Amino acid sequence: MCGIVGYCGKKNAEDHIIHGLEILEYRGYDSAGISVLNEDGKLTTVKRVGKLEILKDALTSLHLEGHVGIGHTRWATHGIPSDKNAHPQVSEDGSFSVVHNGIIENFIDLKSKLLAKGYTFKSDTDTEVVANLFQDYNTGDFLETAVKVAKDLKGAFALGIISSHYPGELLGLRYQSPLVLGVDDQGTILASDIPAIMDYTKDIISLENGEIAYCQEDQRSFYSFEGEEIQKNMEHIDWNFEQASKDGYAHFMLKEIHEQAEVIKKALDMKIKDGKVSLGDQSFSKEELASFDKIYFTACGTAYHAAEVGLRFFEEILGLKCQSEIASELKYYQPFIDDKTLLVVVSQSGETGDTLAAMEEAKAKGAKILAITNVVGSSIARQADKVQYCFAGPEISVASTKAYTTQLICLYTIALDFGQKLGLLDDQTHQAYVQDLYDLVGKVDLLLRREDPYKDLAGKIKNAKEIFYLGRGIDYLSAKEGALKIKEISYINAVSFPSGELKHGSIALLEDGVPVIFVITQESLLDKSISNIKEVKARGAYTLSIAMEGMDQVDEVSDDVVKVPRTNPFFAPVLAVLPQQFLAYETSLALGNDVDKPRNLAKSVTVE
Ligand code: M6R
Repeated sequence: MCGIVGYCGKKNAEDHIIHGLEILEYRGYDSAGISVLNEDGKLTTVKRVGKLEILKDALTSLHLEGHVGIGHTRWATHGIPSDKNAHPQVSEDGSFSVVHNGIIENFIDLKSKLLAKGYTFKSDTDTEVVANLFQDYNTGDFLETAVKVAKDLKGAFALGIISSHYPGELLGLRYQSPLVLGVDDQGTILASDIPAIMDYTKDIISLENGEIAYCQEDQRSFYSFEGEEIQKNMEHIDWNFEQASKDGYAHFMLKEIHEQAEVIKKALDMKIKDGKVSLGDQSFSKEELASFDKIYFTACGTAYHAAEVGLRFFEEILGLKCQSEIASELKYYQPFIDDKTLLVVVSQSGETGDTLAAMEEAKAKGAKILAITNVVGSSIARQADKVQYCFAGPEISVASTKAYTTQLICLYTIALDFGQKLGLLDDQTHQAYVQDLYDLVGKVDLLLRREDPYKDLAGKIKNAKEIFYLGRGIDYLSAKEGALKIKEISYINAVSFPSGELKHGSIALLEDGVPVIFVITQESLLDKSISNIKEVKARGAYTLSIAMEGMDQVDEVSDDVVKVPRTNPFFAPVLAVLPQQFLAYETSLALGNDVDKPRNLAKSVTVE
């Protein structure tokens, strides 16, 4: 997704901007650009399609000297990836330069009005409209002009703007798309993501929706879209760059897979006190819980797969039918959501556009929101009634791994918290669940040390055109996550469905050598799963089973088996996902793919 970095202060703008953009490369992009203002107010803009290296090469001969600038890495939404569509976008007279994340939904209307006034446009982007609006509305006061422009914009936008009319000044505007400032006594760095400013400073100020940051030399002040000054608090972040680097692993994904025992323990330690779940004021009271007659879960992608598993445990503990819906669907279909609904929203980034939109819609209908997210201060965290953090640390690889397992930990502990408050769990049962959760740490650790079989297994499936992922009950939910993982980084089509559904049509696709991966952790469904394995083997399929230790019959019927330690059946997805993550990783590697930055994908999908 697009990345923004801006600088205003006493130091060299270009250096800070390029360094910040390099850090944001993991988000995925197709072009990059920079604008710098020199002391005399001359605005120079350089943009290139392709990797940042190409932009850097173009900059070497230019020696941009200036203390104010903006930069961007773009992931195309309006207009194909090209030099002209890359950001910054410059106004017709060349005096305003704009970088933008998000989508200006009414840009066609705005563009028509500007065209009618005689403006011409060089790009296909919605962002160029913003640059021309600044030119059109320019009052001689940068902030006042921004207030006028902001009133016209609809949609989602994080904007960084500089102008030759206002040397020494930088503006940041935020609505529905994240924007943070890193501050020190030398100046301000503006960015769409915290990692881009971590090397500069650990002191940050997050903009809220409808806020403007006005930076002048080494000072800054804040205003609403109405132009009223507001006071903002500074936060100190404790992430460091090492935490966000690969730490000796070949890829972020591998590093993040290996962090899982540690982060699961951290998440548990943060949520469990004296052997019992204790979520403090970031959970609902008994009275509030009693007022809910429905619990919905929503999310996208991997986070949705975690939500579906969590739902099963909620139903078990609360004895209440719960509902889950993909966020991009829930936004447009919520007939039963009302003020007696609790909506549990799961999002690693806390910025996913679809999830945010579904949540806002439900909130408007009176639902209460409990967010599970990994990013402190993210949009979802800020807008929810209660927030449970995953404590997974920064997740850089596009393929989500440690976020999934820590999302599960959040969901399990929330269900236990609710059950405890509603008097549905006796102390003994509660403590037994807590013990099972803590036991996962050692079991995950064990699985992480047994990495070896996956290279060989990847060799067996890497040339497949498609792979089936099957399971029954909660194992089907684990299989869905395994299928998504292999699809997104190996580019092999993978389909997942409940094993019992195979004979109702899809079995026609089975032929010699087609890989079928079974997840089998539920003892009560073992016999049925064994029959399914035999069924596919009889059609010549290659079978790989991920099964619980002690399920020896699985070994007899499968071509290959990976065993996971025994655990409480509801918690088995935490273990069953690990072999599937490793398998996806090794397959992607064997195919020579870019593991951490798969094609067409971005870490954070902030547009709907
Ligand atoms: O940041 P979120 O958890 O809201 O992201 C949701 C999905 O985009 C994300 O889980 C995606 O499916 C992952 N790339 C999967 O690995």
